[in-house]
Amino acid sequence: MSEPAYRNASVDEDPACPSRDAGPRVSYQLHIDGGVREVAGAWFGESLLRVLRDHLGVLSVKDACEQGRCGSCSVLMDGRLVTSCTVLAADAADAQVTTVAGLGVGGPARAVQAAFLAHGAVQCGFCTPGFVVAVTDLLARRPDADEDEIRESLAGNICRCTGYGRIIAAIRSVQEARRRPGDTRWRPGTGQRQGTDQRQGTGR
Ligand code: FES
Ligand code: FES
Repeated sequence: MSEPAYRNASVDEDPACPSRDAGPRVSYQLHIDGGVREVAGAWFGESLLRVLRDHLGVLSVKDACEQGRCGSCSVLMDGRLVTSCTVLAADAADAQVTTVAGLGVGGPARAVQAAFLAHGAVQCGFCTPGFVVAVTDLLARRPDADEDEIRESLAGNICRCTGYGRIIAAIRSVQEARRRPGDTRWRPGTGQRQGTDQRQGTGR
């Protein structure tokens, strides 16, 4: 019996899917976390995720599925939540890209991170940067979101460890803290998205 053809095939050998090495190279600037980074000689079709990690060493943006299905690579692009694996890096050249590191060491993102730790919502931690970006974005737009809305909004972020209960508890605790008198970290309407189904580049 002869070997199936696919056993000896590779993506690079498929003329319909040419090698990245064979494709045109481009150079551009990316605006990341308030700074400007030079990208030199990147494959023109490279994703924002691959450029962040492989060209610029931004390893807080995690790589899991590369198909827009897990949310581990979530970043903000001009204030909109996107999965960076499904955004062309060259298309982000004129945008402000914010990773979890660019959300700031104080304020809302810090409150979300502290709540995740306090509630045991971080286990292996692989999903956590993407969750922090998505939760911070959600609570900026919808500070009083109920549990159904939270679950629906975060449906694009996958966690294989926690079972989500601890993540939801962490988010609810941040909401409760916000309601206490004198806590001014959260203000309705500071976010720029209107609906969670508008996440771009998720492929869903
Ligand atoms: S790596 Fe899974 S959505 Fe981007
Ligand atoms: S804590 Fe391990 S995948 Fe979420």
